[in-house]
Amino acid sequence: MNKRTFIKNSVGATLALQPFIRHLEYLNNLYIDISNNELIRDERFWAEVRKGYKLKPDYINLENGYYCFTPESTLEHFIDHVRHVNFEGSRYMRTVQEENKKKATLRLADMLGCGTDELIITRNTTESLDTIINGIEWKPGDEAVMAEQDYGSIVGQFKLMAAKFGIINKIISVPNHPETDEEIVRLYEAAITPATKLIMVCHMINITGQILPIKKICEMAHSKGVEVMVDGAHAIAHIDFNIKALDCDYYGASLHKWLSTPLGAGMLFIKKEKVKKLWPTFAPWHDDPSDIRKLNHTGTHPVHTDLAIQDAIDFYLTLGKERKEARLRYLQRYWSDQVRNVSGIVINTPEDPHRSCGIANVGIEKIAPGPMAKILFEKYKIWTVAIDGQGVRGCRITPNVYTSTKELDIFIQALLELNRK
Ligand SMILES: Cc1ncc(COP(=O)(O)O)c(C=O)c1O
Repeated sequence: MNKRTFIKNSVGATLALQPFIRHLEYLNNLYIDISNNELIRDERFWAEVRKGYKLKPDYINLENGYYCFTPESTLEHFIDHVRHVNFEGSRYMRTVQEENKKKATLRLADMLGCGTDELIITRNTTESLDTIINGIEWKPGDEAVMAEQDYGSIVGQFKLMAAKFGIINKIISVPNHPETDEEIVRLYEAAITPATKLIMVCHMINITGQILPIKKICEMAHSKGVEVMVDGAHAIAHIDFNIKALDCDYYGASLHKWLSTPLGAGMLFIKKEKVKKLWPTFAPWHDDPSDIRKLNHTGTHPVHTDLAIQDAIDFYLTLGKERKEARLRYLQRYWSDQVRNVSGIVINTPEDPHRSCGIANVGIEKIAPGPMAKILFEKYKIWTVAIDGQGVRGCRITPNVYTSTKELDIFIQALLELNRK
């Protein structure tokens, strides 16, 4: 029996017998000789991964950009954690709460490539980035640089600083189709003045999926004495990277997006030497100004969510970082390449493969984004989100690892049909 026939006969045999994560391990062994490049196109393998999720049969979910709901195995662990904490009551909180959070932080730090003294678990990107924006000692006239395409509520936090301390916010606009990294770096560079303190930049722009050249932006900013805060909401557990290698000063993200933790988990990385100067938003228990935990006191919170982070990491690493990234990019290119050159259809995401991954945005010239999303849902049962503004006119399309190419075929046909009408 050759390898392919063996796989064909064996897949699925173990699923009912063991936890899903064991099934993933089993699949890994079964496919050990198959390269990632082949595997990303193997719908049989991904159909097995899909079995790890409970999917609503009513529609095709192409809106994982808001958050990526948890696979069943992580959800079961999470429910166990809720039961366990509830069973132990305050004894859990007084004895092992801190220790368990440290364990989750360690796993996360290992996954990202930083130390535990540079990382805290937060509730989401908003808390992480606003902790930095609030924590900086702003003076009137200080400047911050950000993009029109950044997430609105984080830009809103800078606006609060402008109202409260008199800082000046410089807003640039990132083109949807840059030619080179240098073009992007120059845009940020041109906005810097002697008063600039901080640049905020998205690792992956949420409305288009464009990946920005963070390391190059950091190099340029640091050469001018400016710090860089990265909004990594969509990058963690979506694209594979080492956080230290980016050389940014601050990095915040939500783990309920691509790491698929239950709702309400995030992370904040701060370069060790930068911790001391930041003011906590909430008064901490820790007195040491150089201890990153001074920024992590939010009172009593749902600790079971923190516990499920390790389960989500297990799922992600067992599926494989590179494999997940490659499959997500493959899915995006599977649909976007089939409509990229169709007259009347506009792809708002760069074509260069390293400038995007699973997320892309598509518009139809003669239909506004709102009605387009409405028709996609009502007529074709495809769930997306409309984006109309910030230089983008279209629907954001976000598949996940459970998405099949068959579902994307339905989406492609819907786009072509809408464009023809
Ligand atoms: C780029 C970006 N930043 C920040 C956020 C805020 O994330 P959260 O609501 O999890 O804090 C989002 C949410 O979609 C986002 O896309």
